Amino acid sequence: MLPLVLILLTLARIHAHYTSGDVLYHPLPHFWTGVGFCPAGRIDHMGIEASLATPALQMNLRQISALPVGAVTHIRIHWLLELIQFRQYDASGIPIYDFTKFDDFIDFLHEELRLSPVLEWMGNLGGVFQENPMQMPFYWEHLVKTTVNHQLARHGSARLANWRYETWNEPDLRVYNKLNLTSQSYLDYVQAVRQGLSKAGNLDTYEGKVQLPMYRALRGPAGLFKSSDTHPLCWKLLEQCNKKVVYCPIDILTFHRKGIDGTATEIVNGSLSLMAKIYEDYPNLKSMPVANDEADPVAVWSTPREFQADVRYGITLISTVMEHWHAKLAGGPLARLESISHDNAFLSYHPHEFTQRTLLAHFQMNETEPPHSQFIQKPVYAALGMLAKLGNRAADMELVNMDRKHSVEVLRTVSGGVGGPGQYMAAIFLSPEKAGPQRTAFHHKYTLNMSIANESAFITEILVPHTTDPYFVWQQAGSPAYPNATLREAMRRAQTPKLYETGPIWQYNSELVINSATLPLPWAVLLRVCSSAWPKLRRPQQLSIVEVTHREVFISWAEHPKSTQCLRSYEVWFKERDSKGPAADWQLISHGWHLPYPSFQYAPGDKGSVNGFYKVRGVNVFNETSPYSQIVEYLEL
Ligand SMILES: *[C@@H]1O[C@H](CO)[C@@H](O)[C@H](O)[C@H]1NC(C)=O
Ligand SMILES: *[C@@H]1O[C@H](CO)[C@@H](O)[C@H](O)[C@H]1NC(C)=O
Ligand SMILES: *[C@@H]1O[C@H](CO)[C@@H](O)[C@H](O)[C@H]1NC(C)=O
Ligand SMILES: *[C@@H]1O[C@H](CO)[C@@H](O)[C@H](O)[C@H]1NC(C)=O
Ligand SMILES: *[C@@H]1O[C@H](CO)[C@@H](O)[C@H](O)[C@H]1NC(C)=O
Ligand SMILES: *[C@@H]1O[C@H](CO)[C@@H](O)[C@H](O)[C@H]1NC(C)=O
Ligand SMILES: *[C@@H]1O[C@H](CO)[C@@H](O)[C@H](O)[C@H]1NC(C)=O
Repeated sequence: MLPLVLILLTLARIHAHYTSGDVLYHPLPHFWTGVGFCPAGRIDHMGIEASLATPALQMNLRQISALPVGAVTHIRIHWLLELIQFRQYDASGIPIYDFTKFDDFIDFLHEELRLSPVLEWMGNLGGVFQENPMQMPFYWEHLVKTTVNHQLARHGSARLANWRYETWNEPDLRVYNKLNLTSQSYLDYVQAVRQGLSKAGNLDTYEGKVQLPMYRALRGPAGLFKSSDTHPLCWKLLEQCNKKVVYCPIDILTFHRKGIDGTATEIVNGSLSLMAKIYEDYPNLKSMPVANDEADPVAVWSTPREFQADVRYGITLISTVMEHWHAKLAGGPLARLESISHDNAFLSYHPHEFTQRTLLAHFQMNETEPPHSQFIQKPVYAALGMLAKLGNRAADMELVNMDRKHSVEVLRTVSGGVGGPGQYMAAIFLSPEKAGPQRTAFHHKYTLNMSIANESAFITEILVPHTTDPYFVWQQAGSPAYPNATLREAMRRAQTPKLYETGPIWQYNSELVINSATLPLPWAVLLRVCSSAWPKLRRPQQLSIVEVTHREVFISWAEHPKSTQCLRSYEVWFKERDSKGPAADWQLISHGWHLPYPSFQYAPGDKGSVNGFYKVRGVNVFNETSPYSQIVEYLEL
């Protein structure tokens, strides 16, 4: 038993004291690991294909997938189905589809990004549905079944187990309802999709091999659920489902609720009142899991907003997760919450590089030949990475008053223990955005009764304004449209959470003091404690080196899911290849960088070369290193 005392010095004189003796931990599914976006451009096969194939978009996705393992698991891309191309009808009038582009993109998602799609059944595929309005249900069922069978044949059912399937996005909105579905044709369409999913994967359809038929859940109706006059399609579906629950085509009720002017509380509040209304009108739906797949602080991704550029959006996203967890535990209308997703995987554009609702800032470097894109990870990206470090059991969110109006949100989580291999504890402390005017010194004292092994180590990392804020760095340099290499490096040095303190815990009653009185608001602190028996760091996998531009590469790798909780930082090593072959020594090119996430951008400048060999390894909180990854050679063309 090792009580660790964490003291937060903040702004008023209040004492709070906790021990795990009175804390109840609940299983914590990581329910916040979805992101989404809508590709730019025309909505047809050519348009969506062109949009998803651009190097900028692919680099944006590569960056997103280079978050810590488990930070993002699903990506929801509108109109993805348009990658399937309608070819012609066969003799019996059944459409023949060409899956080439769809397969290419799915392979990219699976093999390189290790992400699963949320496949929305929406599109018009060369006009098939428009041309056959009377037979629309038949054509939908056929498309769904054919698509799933095609993927089962290519990847096997295990790879598809994590896929999510959803009905048409926001069908009550003109911009999405391209088929002009009416209440009736919409219900028929949803039933047809359900049928298609159920009929896919029949024993005889998978290369003659015996496949156990797997039930594939259908999510829907992905609705905004404004008044039933303006949004009749989604409401009608619920009405129908409430009447005959066993015939309800959807398994997970999805809705979209965003904040009004940017707070997490509004998102949760809006969701609670919507679900309360739904349950009141349709009580038979109470047992259905629910998901908010666009749980963003404010509507319209492209509208520039200052808070979306800096630490505030990161804090809001973490707070959104914590408050949903609290609402789920409270047993009210969000008790059946299955997941939330963030609609922030968009590609930002000039002059709103940082301020749109995105995870990364995107600079189009038009002055290079050829032009290229540069990406900077925003604090909200760092925030998603911090959340990935939470354990698999969590206490309810705790509120610790800072002053009369403001409180620190605390989420404590644990993993392992109770006969398991070692123990792990992670807690996030989240300041309010503002605090009261009385700046009197005060103590927050948390006694975290770890009951953890006697040999353990801790690490704290923080997100704070200015220090971990590339937007601030950019503004200080005059916000140039084409930041030069020096400025880009300075921004990247500010893009990861800052290592605050780390060290061993040798004795009982160790004390760790975080003097947050010196931290500007708002801040987030991630504290991790590992026992020495926790699984050791495994070797990084799938090291990949991708060109950014001449003499500049983006290096990323895959993490082993069960061993990175106690990671401190990565090291990236490089050995130059000169004309005489591999001669030089290995150099630590990430010297002086804190790299808690599995990527690094290497830009040695005009004097250096990126041609040569690369390898990476991790270092944990005990200062032990993992084995090196495989060595990968990179050669510029
Ligand atoms: C710490 O936790 C252990 C086991 O959960 C419990 O027996 C003990 O009473 C706790 N200590 C304090 C000070 O609460
Ligand atoms: C839907 O209606 C709009 C305007 O009423 C029309 O332009 C469009 O062609 C229709 N789409 C289909 C698929 O029928
Ligand atoms: C949340 O809802 C409650 C009750 O409906 C209301 O009193 C409160 O002001 C709302 N809070 C926010 C931030 O919208
Ligand atoms: C930790 O516990 C082990 C076994 O219980 C013991 O052998 C060791 O001396 C302890 N180490 C310290 C620093 O107390
Ligand atoms: C790079 O840009 C910064 C800020 O715009 C400027 O201060 C600096 O002089 C530039 N460095 C070089 C080498 O051009
Ligand atoms: C760079 O080019 C793109 C595409 O032509 C354009 O949209 C963008 O505004 C340009 N960026 C700047 C800084 O001019
Ligand atoms: C690891 O090394 C760092 C810096 O060299 C040091 O501050 C820290 O105490 C070490 N951690 C352990 C567990 O020994």
